[in-house]
Amino acid sequence: MKLFIDTANLAQIEEIASWGILDGVTTNPSLVAKEKGADFKETVIAMCNLVDEVSAQITATEFKEMKKQADEYHSWHKNVVVKVPMTVEGLKTLKYCSSKGIATNTTLVFSVPQAVMAAKAGATMISPFVGRLDDIGVDGMELIADIRQAWDHYNFDTQILVASVRSTEHVRRAATIGAHIATIPYNVFKELPQHDLTDKGLKKFLEDWEQVKT
Ligand code: G3P
Repeated sequence: MKLFIDTANLAQIEEIASWGILDGVTTNPSLVAKEKGADFKETVIAMCNLVDEVSAQITATEFKEMKKQADEYHSWHKNVVVKVPMTVEGLKTLKYCSSKGIATNTTLVFSVPQAVMAAKAGATMISPFVGRLDDIGVDGMELIADIRQAWDHYNFDTQILVASVRSTEHVRRAATIGAHIATIPYNVFKELPQHDLTDKGLKKFLEDWEQVKT
């Protein structure tokens, strides 16, 4: 299972990358807007120098322009994954990128048919947004389980990337369902290594070790 961080903040990426378990980064226009004043291209290249897969979202909505933006982002660094919204124009762009060997991440996926179409268009990854489904009273992780079930019937190479993660519980379910990737916000990432019994157990080991030493 790959673990990505969902942020446009370089310091956060550097910190989590230093743990040695970070596979990639996902960004979106809202996350980029939070990092006021940062140059988008420079930031994406800096991220690509830290991890192997960095999703950068195109902002055009018509195929002709989307194609141009995809080519441009792809030219920045070999680790750029072009993030494409799940629209009809987006499907055309995914197909174009797949014919050119450009890696893609399909964003704003909310249904199994959308996931299947993105896979047929050759998407490298699809991002179902689980938290936003939870927000409207639908269990987002059920969509992941449904997509996983559909994937088991076919030979899609497209990786299922659990996005809009809000809790460690989302990460637990992503792993047990068999999603290929989870992209995790910084605050949730920081909680993942924690367990009360680990802290308690370590405290006791260290106390007992003091007695061995004396
Ligand atoms: O990876 C998608 C993510 O950035 C959206 O998360 O919390 O804004 O729904 P959220």
